[in-house]
Amino acid sequence: MIRPPIEPFRIKVVEPVRMTTEDERRAIVAEVGYNLFRVRARDIYIDLLTDSGTSAMSDWQWAGLMQGDESYAGCRNFYHLEEAIKKIFGFPYFVPTHQGRAAEHVLFSTLLRPGDYVPSNMHFDTTHANIEVQGAHAVDLVIPEGLDPQCEHPFKGNMDIGRLENFIQETGKERIPLGMITITNNNGGGQPVSLQNIRQTGEVLHRHGIPLFIDACRHAENAYFIQQREAAQSGRPLIEIARETFSYADGCTMSAKKDGLANIGGFLAMRSPELYERVCQRLILVEGFTTYGGLAGRDLEAIARGLQEALDERYLAYRTGQVRYLGARLQEYGVPILEPVGGHAVYLDARRFLPHLPQSELPAQSLVVELYIAGSIRTVEIGTVMNAHEDPATGETVYPALELVRLAIPRRVYTNTQMDYIAEVVAQVYERRETLRGLRIVHEPEFLRHFTARFAPLEG
Ligand code: F0G
Repeated sequence: MIRPPIEPFRIKVVEPVRMTTEDERRAIVAEVGYNLFRVRARDIYIDLLTDSGTSAMSDWQWAGLMQGDESYAGCRNFYHLEEAIKKIFGFPYFVPTHQGRAAEHVLFSTLLRPGDYVPSNMHFDTTHANIEVQGAHAVDLVIPEGLDPQCEHPFKGNMDIGRLENFIQETGKERIPLGMITITNNNGGGQPVSLQNIRQTGEVLHRHGIPLFIDACRHAENAYFIQQREAAQSGRPLIEIARETFSYADGCTMSAKKDGLANIGGFLAMRSPELYERVCQRLILVEGFTTYGGLAGRDLEAIARGLQEALDERYLAYRTGQVRYLGARLQEYGVPILEPVGGHAVYLDARRFLPHLPQSELPAQSLVVELYIAGSIRTVEIGTVMNAHEDPATGETVYPALELVRLAIPRRVYTNTQMDYIAEVVAQVYERRETLRGLRIVHEPEFLRHFTARFAPLEG
């Protein structure tokens, strides 16, 4: 039997959570159109919707909140954050933003023109959408193993270097203002990218004069996987791995709601003083002055401290260990999951879980609904609802390669006993999987439809 990881902390504050009945939950999901984004948090027992902004902060971070300097310009917390960013990421310039997607928006609205292309291993959905609203195209070039839920590979988030090279040759470097790489690759299952692959990605882009920006949301978890899995990096201090990671890049976008261990915040960092000038103008227009960027001084302090805590080796061993523990418990029950387990979440493979439902019947969304009804657990669909698109030529729906349900684990929030509970609920649903029915979409917005779409159960 697998042993859960030992927590490198003790608990000082607790927040009660409430259990509802199955009948109550059936009524709730029907009322919200079978979209769990619309359920009130008080009606959820275990919330695995996201690991973003849901971390438990440490006493050191909470103490930092009291030292928030709420001056409009030049607050001391900005300089603490600058120090942390220089130490960990090594970029000389940065602007705070209210969260990761704001950093993306500021970057893309500064650099992109209609018709441009931005290649990446795999863009996260907000990144993809922020590129497309500029009239540009987001292109995913992850290695083929990254799209196969059953293939064991230590770095399934890696960029396909050959395809990247070909893509640049075919597209022309003048239409590619930047390339990106997402570490870890969230939409591909929280899978890490090797240090060697980040270096090679930088080399290919730079040979063509294209800058590399890293989507750094989960860079600390990525650094830990590099230390554990990349032979040449074994035993190396994580701060050194982080510094080398970013040494190959020209900048990064960061959501501090993940590996910043904060409840809100982000930043955009870069090497180029010219780009920094342009970014500052844009930032002031949409986020705020350059030393606060949409955040309070206390938020900046929580991030400055969280960024440092997130690279603690004992914390990361526990963090990745807890996610791996949940994955192993599910596998004991025979539940099909994406393998190997990623850094921040376990992903159920809805195609193998519900083989009787075709993608047009939204199997992953149907599973999300059932897990809520069965155990008051909120998860999120990363499949047809989130990632299908229309072929512009034929008007036909193009289904995504992966049909997943993500169980994202908030950092330092739930106990290992709660991991056992989650595994038991999923296993119960798996036992009666043939009884699950599909869903259809009854309402959808133009962009990012998964947040607000409404569904109805299919008859039969
Ligand atoms: N990039 C990645 C890889 C992400 O996972 C996210 C957010 C963002 C960018 C945007 O950051 O939310 O601060 O604006 N991911 C969250 C999630 C929402 O649930 O995976 P944000």
